[in-house]
Amino acid sequence: ANQGANLGSAEPAPVAAAQSAAPLTILYGSQTGNSRSVATALADRARAEGVAVTLVSMADYKPRQLKSEQQLLLVVSTHGEGDPPDDAIAFHKFLFSARAPKLPELRYSVLALGDSSYDHFCQTGKEFDLRLAELGANRLAERVDCDVDFEDAAEQWQSEVISKLETPTDSAAPTAAVVPISGTSSYSRSQPFSATLLASQKITGRHSIKDTRHIELSLEGSGLSYQPGDALGVWMDNDPALVAELLAATGLSGDEPVTLKESSLPLRQALTEQLELTLLHPALVKGWAELAGHAELDAVVADSDALKAFVPQHQLLDLARRYPAKPSAEQLVSLLRKLTPRLYSIASSQAEVEEEVHLTVALVSDQRDGEERLGTVSGALARRLEAGAEVRVYVEPNNNFRLPADDNTPVIMIGPGTGIAPFRAFLQERDARGAEGDNWLFFGNPTFTDDFLYQVEWQGYVKSGLLTRIDLAFSRDQQHKIYVQDRLREQGAELYAWLQRGAHLYLCGDAQRMAKDVEAALRAVIAEQGQLSEDAAADYLEQLRAEKRYQKDVY
Ligand code: 2AM
Repeated sequence: ANQGANLGSAEPAPVAAAQSAAPLTILYGSQTGNSRSVATALADRARAEGVAVTLVSMADYKPRQLKSEQQLLLVVSTHGEGDPPDDAIAFHKFLFSARAPKLPELRYSVLALGDSSYDHFCQTGKEFDLRLAELGANRLAERVDCDVDFEDAAEQWQSEVISKLETPTDSAAPTAAVVPISGTSSYSRSQPFSATLLASQKITGRHSIKDTRHIELSLEGSGLSYQPGDALGVWMDNDPALVAELLAATGLSGDEPVTLKESSLPLRQALTEQLELTLLHPALVKGWAELAGHAELDAVVADSDALKAFVPQHQLLDLARRYPAKPSAEQLVSLLRKLTPRLYSIASSQAEVEEEVHLTVALVSDQRDGEERLGTVSGALARRLEAGAEVRVYVEPNNNFRLPADDNTPVIMIGPGTGIAPFRAFLQERDARGAEGDNWLFFGNPTFTDDFLYQVEWQGYVKSGLLTRIDLAFSRDQQHKIYVQDRLREQGAELYAWLQRGAHLYLCGDAQRMAKDVEAALRAVIAEQGQLSEDAAADYLEQLRAEKRYQKDVY
């Protein structure tokens, strides 16, 4: 019944033979965009086989359609504590409710994305997989659980699924030549563009507790385009100095041959270009503890809470220095994960900066044992690379963080710290478009003097009238902390009035504490101003989210 639905008009109509094959629906539930990009690639491959594909976010899927599905593929990530991503919450709830239909005709498979540093690894994907089986559906391929370096496992699952799908070639010879689908630039996560670093400017003051950078990169000649709300993926080699220190600490020369992805290369090159050296994961700490045989580290590993706290606060070099061990080159490589790109919300609009892309990057820097430990990408951008250096990048689209299509719609933007980045893009875009809708910005950081990021730009926008309101929360400029959520509460009546007249609401920044506290404040404001119960206020916010009037980019 829904065959061909959701196929954009720019895409080729399903070839005639596809009529005889069962249509395929691919659902994704994404927080960072990885699930969406895997799902999109899969859709392209299935279409190339002549299958009629409907690709849709779980947030936009009508669960009533489930009964009429014949082939269903799910690509879904999991939140830190084992919860579904926001986009998947409603569908997940439906599936586990009594309203979920029996699905004996359905063939399905699940790709679960996750992070094995967390206890509830791939929990959401596992739940979907088991629940669908419980409802009587049949797996067309086994579920695959992917860790943060998901590419190889995702690729395997895709190939398996494609080989098991019912395609027109199963029943008839293909009648039409296959048309490649994706029309976007040829640069991607696996084939990034070498952008030129134009500027890396510290935009926090001398006395700031933070080092936050304004980064400008040139995309000239790439044909890459992006929209406000998109993220930039950045690949970066490890610092050769860090590699040298690790080699020295482990007693390895770096010339040892090691095998990665079936090819042989010297250890030094593997460590520099291919393997994650700054972010730890629990299995690595456990593996290192076995090699080191050190009582202190053994105690950490034995206590799961201690291990959880240890992981984000240390790097491999800390292990190598404090708990010396002598792994073989192959042993070391087998403990390490593959290096992954880092995603940053883009801080510019092409309507303003054309072939440039700007980022707002907080330097990850910790003092340990009298030395500085830097993040791989932020460290390189802030300290190691000079203007003119090449940086490998790609655009990661984010359709879940978009300005309203109507330029007259008011927007409310909440972006403390580096959460400000996409709102600089939004305002540049609205300025260039001459959009007349009201704009309200909430920003917070430690101090007015040292941490008022892009202060001059906001002042200019207030003056020109583009920025209707700006509310600031400098947490450390007085005795007690003041945060953006305190400003939201203070402005409750006005905020609610904006929402009632159709404003879109955006939240970007820290997910651990800020986003939760801000959401609590939003619900409190809605309850108070709308005279609603707590539940009704939560429903109001949920309704905004379902209508895409409340969008989040939190990390
Ligand atoms: P603090 O570091 O002074 O506590 C950007 O990092 C800003 O967010 C800082 O001013 C920081 O304040 C503040 N911040 C810290 N925890 C927060 C929370 N739970 N909610 C909102 N803002 C928070």
